[in-house]
Amino acid sequence: MTQIKIQDLDHIEEAAREFIGQMGDDTVFAFYGKMGAGKTTFIKALCKLLGVEDEVNSPTFAIINEYRSETTAELIYHFDFYRIKKLEEVYDLGYEDYFYSGALCFIEWPELVEELLPTDAKKITITENSDGSRTIVI
Ligand SMILES: Nc1ncnc2c1ncn2[C@@H]1O[C@H](COP(=O)(O)OP(=O)(O)OP(=O)(O)O)[C@@H](O)[C@H]1O
Ligand SMILES: [Mg+2]
Repeated sequence: MTQIKIQDLDHIEEAAREFIGQMGDDTVFAFYGKMGAGKTTFIKALCKLLGVEDEVNSPTFAIINEYRSETTAELIYHFDFYRIKKLEEVYDLGYEDYFYSGALCFIEWPELVEELLPTDAKKITITENSDGSRTIVI
């Protein structure tokens, strides 16, 4: 278990750098955390450091967002399953093509697709502390 503390938004980049340093060969990262915990914000920071130049918006309306790293030319997928009502919707999206593609996948609200997550998906928890800082547990 590794913990990364994000004191405030000014320190998110260094936290993201530390996280990336821990990613190893894993590709599927499931971010658990309450609404407003900071999942989208942290995933944005990761994507930026990984070379994504297009604005990484909160995937409020889209379940799957595809980005391309300008440094590695690799694709990165950002999922937000918050609005999923039935697993059938996720099957219809062709989730396997993404999860097993070898491309990086960052997932918000993974609990809604828990049974579809690859067994080797890395589970991350983000919590907001009373002082507004965030703790990331890998
Ligand atoms: N590390 C941080 N330090 C301070 N504020 C943060 C941090 N991370 C996120 N925030 C703030 O918290 C709010 C919610 O962040 P964010 O949208 O990333 O949460 P979320 O976990 O993706 O929520 P949702 O479940 O609704 O998708 C935003 O206003 C954001 O600026
Ligand atoms: Mg979010």
